[in-house]
Amino acid sequence: MSSPRTLILNLDTGIDDALALAYALGSPEVELAGVVAGYGNVTADVAARNTLALLRLLGHPEIPVYRGADRALAAEAAFEPPAGVVRIHGENGLGGQEVSGWCYAAPPSGADFLARALRSAADDLLYVPTGPLTDLAGTLVRAPELARTLPRVTLMGGALTVPGNVTPFAEANIHNDPEAADVVLSLGLRTRVIGLDVTYQVVLTREDTALWRELGTPAGRVFADMADHYISVYEKNNPHLGGCALHDPLAVAAAIDPTLVSCLSTNLRVELGEPARGRLVCDPDRLRDAEKSAEVALTVDAPRFLDEFRARVARALAAR
Ligand code: BDR
Ligand code: CA
Repeated sequence: MSSPRTLILNLDTGIDDALALAYALGSPEVELAGVVAGYGNVTADVAARNTLALLRLLGHPEIPVYRGADRALAAEAAFEPPAGVVRIHGENGLGGQEVSGWCYAAPPSGADFLARALRSAADDLLYVPTGPLTDLAGTLVRAPELARTLPRVTLMGGALTVPGNVTPFAEANIHNDPEAADVVLSLGLRTRVIGLDVTYQVVLTREDTALWRELGTPAGRVFADMADHYISVYEKNNPHLGGCALHDPLAVAAAIDPTLVSCLSTNLRVELGEPARGRLVCDPDRLRDAEKSAEVALTVDAPRFLDEFRARVARALAAR
């Protein structure tokens, strides 16, 4: 097998972000070089703390965690998660699971780390943001040439052909910072967009989490209880799904193996005005451009992804 590709995650850690982290750690094709943890499902401080604790739980305390943005580009005050988000991810962002291993030292700056890492990115770097795009947009604003040179960025966000999950128009990661998403999508950066169009097609069930509990490891128990919390929210809000959507793990999976999804090539923008603020659209001004910078996933090989998800996450959880 060829040597593993370098992966950088940008999480708002969050339950499905935690599952994405486990997917990455269970994937032999990649080596996780660092995690930038910012606001979104929780505050930036809580996201960093959760990420440190989860990495320790999963047996990888050596992987560095950087503190990402604490607010949207245009926000005056640091982000505090609204009550609806607290209900989904729990008070601590991990469905109430107490994970020891918190670090009391402030993690180093995610902005500096990203600027360095993306400037020196090799052609095969995998950078996967699964929260608001504030950190990436900040880096691109300071170094716009990166939009032309960075390898394709696979991100979780948006809803092109289905309704949003925060408003009828907007998906949560884009809704949290529409200006940042618009910077990222309109500068010509090559992206692979894993939105609700496909993430609602891949669902984790209580049968799956029961198997994690049976592993008999601390990580298996914590992840099973955490995911069951997420599933119980979906049972109330989206009972037709029969489980919880695997938003962020699908983005990591599609970065590693793009053949899991099939995509529409287009140029994207984000609506910034009301009433459709946060809506992903094909950019009317670039519709006829020969060059298309975005690939929007519209179909997914759900059985194959779920097989990979079960195998990889079980590998990460069984180790601890
Ligand atoms: C996205 O929003 C967040 O709540 C999840 O972690 C995921 O990244 C789904 O809309
Ligand atoms: Ca997320």
